[in-house]
Amino acid sequence: MKILILNGPNLNLLGIREKSIYGTQSFEVYFEELKQAFPGLELSYFQSNHEGALLDKLHEVGYSYQGIVLNAGAYTHTSVALSDAIKAIEAPVIEVHISNVFAREAFRHKSMLAAYCKGCISGFGLDSYRLALQYFERLKPNKIGFGAKTS
Ligand code: DQA
Repeated sequence: MKILILNGPNLNLLGIREKSIYGTQSFEVYFEELKQAFPGLELSYFQSNHEGALLDKLHEVGYSYQGIVLNAGAYTHTSVALSDAIKAIEAPVIEVHISNVFAREAFRHKSMLAAYCKGCISGFGLDSYRLALQYFERLKPNKIGFGAKTS
């Protein structure tokens, strides 16, 4: 099961940026932990500060991967283009946020993407990504009793 974790603007600064909100760990280190925690998922990771690059990545994987975990950063609150891309592709997208966006400034309460996503996870720190991957892991056919059987 191919799953992409897609991070948007400023998330390359995790571990450096506003540590009281986003924590002290870099995403690269956390991604290694996720790969160990979910050996049954084929995980890949991409980050860009550019809206067009995020769109290109959604188009690239959106018809062949089984799921996308998307933290679009500030584009969450502004991007019609990303919302159109999520609508266009076939892979289910889970919107994640490290911080609880609803406990922050009013402009962060609005998501342009949420309506087209499978669901949203916000406020659990980096664990927001792990919770999203748990959803995809449970979808694996052999875990929920249909499709391929392991025994
Ligand atoms: C964020 C929340 C956004 O409002 C913000 O612009 C980010 C990070 C989060 O993960 O909490 O860049 O998506």
